[in-house]
Amino acid sequence: MCGIFGYVGSRNNAGQLVVKGLKNLEYRGYDSWGVACKVGDAVLVEKDIGKISAVNESEFAHDCGMAISHTRWATHGGVTAMNAHPHLNEAGTIAVVHNGIIENFQSLRNELKEKGYTFKSETDTEVIPYIIEEEMKTTPDFASAVRKACAKFDGRYGILAFHTESNTLVATRTGSPLIVGVGEDGYFIASDIPAFMEHTKTVQYLDDGEMLVTDGKSILFTDLETGEEHPKREIEITWSVEEAQKGEYAHFMLKEIMEQKDSIARAVNQDDDQIKVIADAIKNAQGTFLVGSGTAHKACMAAEYFFSVIAKHHVNVTSGGEFKVHHHFLKPESLMIVVSQSGETADTLEAMKVAKSKGAKVLAIVNAEGSTIDREADYTLLINAGPERAVASTKALTGQMAVLMMIAHAMNDKLHEGKTLLLNTVSSINDMLNPRYIDFLEEVAQEIQHHEDLYIIGKSWNYPIALESAIKIQEVSYIHAEGFAASELKHGPIALIEEGTPCIALLGNDEVTPDIISNTIELKARGAQTIAIAPENNEAFDTWIKVPDVGVAQAIVNVIPIQVLAYFLAVKRGKDPDMPRNLAKSVTVK
Ligand code: M6R
Repeated sequence: MCGIFGYVGSRNNAGQLVVKGLKNLEYRGYDSWGVACKVGDAVLVEKDIGKISAVNESEFAHDCGMAISHTRWATHGGVTAMNAHPHLNEAGTIAVVHNGIIENFQSLRNELKEKGYTFKSETDTEVIPYIIEEEMKTTPDFASAVRKACAKFDGRYGILAFHTESNTLVATRTGSPLIVGVGEDGYFIASDIPAFMEHTKTVQYLDDGEMLVTDGKSILFTDLETGEEHPKREIEITWSVEEAQKGEYAHFMLKEIMEQKDSIARAVNQDDDQIKVIADAIKNAQGTFLVGSGTAHKACMAAEYFFSVIAKHHVNVTSGGEFKVHHHFLKPESLMIVVSQSGETADTLEAMKVAKSKGAKVLAIVNAEGSTIDREADYTLLINAGPERAVASTKALTGQMAVLMMIAHAMNDKLHEGKTLLLNTVSSINDMLNPRYIDFLEEVAQEIQHHEDLYIIGKSWNYPIALESAIKIQEVSYIHAEGFAASELKHGPIALIEEGTPCIALLGNDEVTPDIISNTIELKARGAQTIAIAPENNEAFDTWIKVPDVGVAQAIVNVIPIQVLAYFLAVKRGKDPDMPRNLAKSVTVK
């Protein structure tokens, strides 16, 4: 949560540069924004509530070679201009932007108040410049004072700071990502690569427990605690600028949904030998744990069915934030598979850390190369979906499911068949996502847009897809949507059904199809408006959304019309599907 972007170097338009780049980080938080430019020996701060995308870069045309900026997802303190970052010390000499949480901020704030400091905001962040100022009383070197200040902070955070009397930018990290773009004329430091992708594709990663200091000409990475120098590799990123832009689409969400025609094929394009090694590792592990959060957790839940039906192998599935209590079951011989689009999700990372502390091996299935999960896992399979910018995860989910399904096939010595099935599925998706189909889904959305409650049912691997469908519809359209295992309906939720309540049933063409048709008939008998996503029509369906019959890959196909439906529900209800309220793309706080 929160996007940070800073620059120091020989350019003299750092203010404009960071505002422009920050717009590419808006997906990380869009409650408010702020910029601090070092102009001569002074700092000019501009901050406000609202979206950075609405801000005109030309207003930041100061003669400035160093600037930091921030787009906020509020944690501590409401959405006000005063709470927006950057925060300064009282003398206005130290500027700080921050992502994450300083967990002990209350006690630090009380100590500072006793020393006579007054606070302008309700944030945890404001203690940072004050503590740095305190440290500078005995340690005048700015970077050293930042190091000493960080020793006082508990929690997971990324900090970017400068002092008006120093030409250096200082960054520290204990959890929230910070990546350096190495330019010919300076250094760019950001929470994510899109901020500086138009300037450089050469990156260096700041790791947890590290600090960097740069004057724009050179950069030094050190251990945050000891100050010991850490050598760093430069890595070239492969994403193109175009991939990270909307192109002809009105929203990233629709663009990313449509990209599934290609992205699933890229996920399937893995090295066979590596997949077989992973399949064997799962077979030999004493307990395999699949962990993800939100949509990635639903990919894990779907995979539980893939492993059960295709590989006849039991795996344990837990959401990231719930894993900690299950640590008793981990042994050094266990395997944890963590699934994440961003590779930065705090809940998932926490589970991964628990696994590592128990000596278990960790396999990561991630989209964002170079992310914390990618770098800290023992092995990584990248799903290669390309940048996913909309808050709603779409193409990452289908890539994750494709990879997990392939592994399940490999465990049954059927990797080739699995790959062929998935590639045929991709071609069916390509046919399905034609303009007429999209128009039809828009009509369905038009019809149900005014309902405030909507239910989705599924069985077998369509059950996690029902849960995922609910997340998709909730997060972008704000309709109260809930997913159920179809068989659970009659154990309670059916009491919610009223005349006309839209209910979506997810079906395949398999042994559970008759059951779910019966459940759909039960819903219809109680007045529900039944909408089915199914390969074949049935008189129980008021509306039939046809999908290709792809056998065990049905979950991958069935989620796609739901994604499109969720998109149109948002648009028709006047909501921005790319930046839903209260949410951010990367959930880097617990
Ligand atoms: O980056 P991750 O896949 O680890 O993110 C996990 C969840 O935060 C994410 O899937 C979230 O639920 C999405 N907004 C759902 O669309």
